[in-house]
Amino acid sequence: MANPKISTIPSPCFVLEEKKLRKNLKLLQRVRAKADVEIILAFKAFANWKIFPIIREYLDGATASSLWEARLCLEEMGSLAHTYAPAYLPEEFDQIIKRSSYITFNSLTQFKTFYPKIKAFKKRKINCGLRINPEYSEVETELYNPCAPGSRLGELWTNIGTKLPEGINGLHFHNLCESDSYALEKTLKNIEKYFGHLLPQIEWINMGGGHLITKKGYDVAHLIKILKAFKKKHQLKITLEPGSAIAWQTGFLRTSVLDITENKGIKTAILDASFTAHMPDTLEMPYRPDVQGTVEKSDYPYRLGGVSCLAGDYLENYYFKKPLKVGDPIILEDMMHYTMVKTTMFNGVKHPDFAVIDLEGILTVLRKFTYQDFKRRLG
Ligand SMILES: Cc1ncc(COP(=O)(O)O)c(C=O)c1O
Repeated sequence: MANPKISTIPSPCFVLEEKKLRKNLKLLQRVRAKADVEIILAFKAFANWKIFPIIREYLDGATASSLWEARLCLEEMGSLAHTYAPAYLPEEFDQIIKRSSYITFNSLTQFKTFYPKIKAFKKRKINCGLRINPEYSEVETELYNPCAPGSRLGELWTNIGTKLPEGINGLHFHNLCESDSYALEKTLKNIEKYFGHLLPQIEWINMGGGHLITKKGYDVAHLIKILKAFKKKHQLKITLEPGSAIAWQTGFLRTSVLDITENKGIKTAILDASFTAHMPDTLEMPYRPDVQGTVEKSDYPYRLGGVSCLAGDYLENYYFKKPLKVGDPIILEDMMHYTMVKTTMFNGVKHPDFAVIDLEGILTVLRKFTYQDFKRRLG
């Protein structure tokens, strides 16, 4: 079925396309089965819980970075979370235990602080992990590089010694970002080099996220091969917790042109959405979204301007096939991962709705934001 006409979609609105999401999930499910690994969704990238029933059909659960995400996991995914946070709040830890099957600590001191509580929890087994820092990453943007010198994320091998403390039965690393299987292969070499003596002491290893398995050109067969080889060699349960790969290229942000300004020859189309409030990665990373209807070069270049008053709330050099006018729809592609989880209500700008286009091509708006949502956040 064809997608609904853009004019029938409210503006601004994040729109998830179920068909594309299922295509990603099917591929991940294949990796999961062929490599005999566990694949869970990293909520930090995508946590629109009304979509969890679809995700649950294909994956094994989710990873949480906080008590609230662990709670969402149990309430809406229906499973106990694999929880990891750079540090836990003492007053929340009992509640985290109740909602997690795996708890990973960022440091040995955090493990020592909280392990007595886990030991005292008799209802079921909690798997305790330690995050390690493999000191290898191909991520060039410092903001996204967990292995940058001085990083606070994960223990270095030099801090651990030859024996893991009693109670730790797994290791966790996360050093990739939108990476390929060859970056993982090099990482695993470092893991063996620096942490190889610890591998016989554990039962499971969590290889974090950043595996962009659903990107065109990703060498899925190579990934399956290296996962199987690592599993066979070390006899470990393997977990992958991608976020981006699940929601990669599964939807768009529909916006509209509100005005067109001109300053020293630069034309800016001001949208009814904001880069800083609704697409922060476009400024932080920076990540440049494709925009429908644009070409490499034309006589109609525009800046796309956000509706907030932040001076830098814009992206530039988008070339349209024809001049823009007020009311035109502007469709920003690939806007599902790390968007809705990160949005703010900065400036009180209208927050985009969230809608889904189902397999029949029918659009359903799942969430509309109101003035009350804005007001309640602030008092
Ligand atoms: C510990 C951990 N796991 C998983 C992920 C998900 O990574 P991605 O969305 O790049 O797959 C992240 C992202 O920052 C992370 O920090």
